Amino acid sequence: MSNTFKNYINGSWVDGSGDTFENRNPADTDDLIGTFPSSTAEDVARATEAAREAYRSWRLVPAPKRGDILRKAGDILARRKDELARAMTREMGKPVFETKGDVQEAIDTAYYSATETRRLFGYNAPSEMPDKMNLSFRMPIGVCGIITAWNFPMAVPSWKILPALACGNTLVYKPSEDAPHSGNLMAEVLEEAGLPKGVFNVVHGAAEAGNAIVEHPDIKVIGFTGSTETGKAIAAKAGGMNKQVSLEMGGKNAQIVMPDADMDLALDGVLWGAFGTTGQRCTATSRLILHEDIHDDFVNRLIEKASALKLGPGLEEGTEMGPVINEKALDKVTEYVRIGREVDGATCILGGDRAGEEDATLGRGHFFLPTIFIDVNRNMRIAREEIFGPVLSVLKIGSLTEAIEVLNDTPYGLSSSLYTKNVNDAFRAIRDIEAGITYINVPTIGAEAHMPFGGVKGTGNGHREGGWTVFDIFTEWKTVYIDYSGSLQRAQIDNYDE
Ligand code: UN1
Repeated sequence: MSNTFKNYINGSWVDGSGDTFENRNPADTDDLIGTFPSSTAEDVARATEAAREAYRSWRLVPAPKRGDILRKAGDILARRKDELARAMTREMGKPVFETKGDVQEAIDTAYYSATETRRLFGYNAPSEMPDKMNLSFRMPIGVCGIITAWNFPMAVPSWKILPALACGNTLVYKPSEDAPHSGNLMAEVLEEAGLPKGVFNVVHGAAEAGNAIVEHPDIKVIGFTGSTETGKAIAAKAGGMNKQVSLEMGGKNAQIVMPDADMDLALDGVLWGAFGTTGQRCTATSRLILHEDIHDDFVNRLIEKASALKLGPGLEEGTEMGPVINEKALDKVTEYVRIGREVDGATCILGGDRAGEEDATLGRGHFFLPTIFIDVNRNMRIAREEIFGPVLSVLKIGSLTEAIEVLNDTPYGLSSSLYTKNVNDAFRAIRDIEAGITYINVPTIGAEAHMPFGGVKGTGNGHREGGWTVFDIFTEWKTVYIDYSGSLQRAQIDNYDE
């Protein structure tokens, strides 16, 4: 018997008005997690109406009281961590040790947002007039639409949802159609934490539901994580409606390794960066930029380590790399391997194929081998385009200057990494790399919840989630002038003599 899951609107679990879709375990396509509503504009309108109504009172709840609810949500996430992690692994495939990290990131964000509700600082400045006071503070905006990807089913949504709630907004959330169950789990957690009905609503589905959120006139802010293509389309539409939009999109992140680096550290770094989450992170290391002096030796050692990675279902103890998310992703990765070989003319020295089609276990899921290309140059498609799978392109360079030039030569700018022991090189790279995040002697993945997260160029549109910067996305400023002089003091006029 399969489970029939519903939307969560105004504190109740309700059917959608359209069809339903199935969600299956990517490690075992016989395992049906359940069916979910393919929501329509009508469902989105219903959720938006609930959020609009709830906003009238939620915005007036003192921020630290809203914080109390978020702190409880953190406690509940912590209590349910193991169970949630297993449900997420079943849904999107990465090993349980990774989904536990995903839940932990949501716990961190819950506690962080809760404590920020006692700050949410504005600022005051002296007036240019006597007997006058100038203040500014943050206001909630209203109903926000949150649309996210499946690869971090708890962490990434929590980066948006929890701070948005802390600020006094209400939400309509559409989880990815590849991780809908996790969206319902988030609703369960927030309900148990005591969030009033209508403040947080979940509407399942794909493009139809997403478009309806973007187009609904009562939704004032859109927070989106996903592909650059979809993000740009959302921004175009939302811009025309004068909505605020925060976009977190693709990446083509690189790790540079210089000859003076700790080679073991750099190897462990690229293994985790490239093949963690099966390469399906917007922060994944998809390019490795190696100095020519160490190139051959490093590549040989990397092949040895990458070919020893244990592929398997994420729920199985000992699995190091899970499947890719679905058949379409498998096709995309396969096509990029073909492009790398046949169009780009690079050399595939590891993997390059689906894994275990004949195998009793792997054959049931969407598995792909850890894949490495060498002889890659910066103009090749496999060096420029986001593949979102376990494929690493290795580029050879002769100097740090060249390495940074190559690193910067993509349409994206999310994460970056440099392995070196040379302090001067490290600081130069921090200054010159065009990316929202630069790691020194750390792989390109592993952002922490209380630090700004986001990218430049094709990756973002100027916003940063995580850290206090996320509160800029979900608040508007109110500036207040209080004149207690008892007379009309005209700014820019009365306090200046001719
Ligand atoms: C993403 O892939 O969308 O820094 C986010 C990291 C994680 C978040 C990744 N903490 O890799």
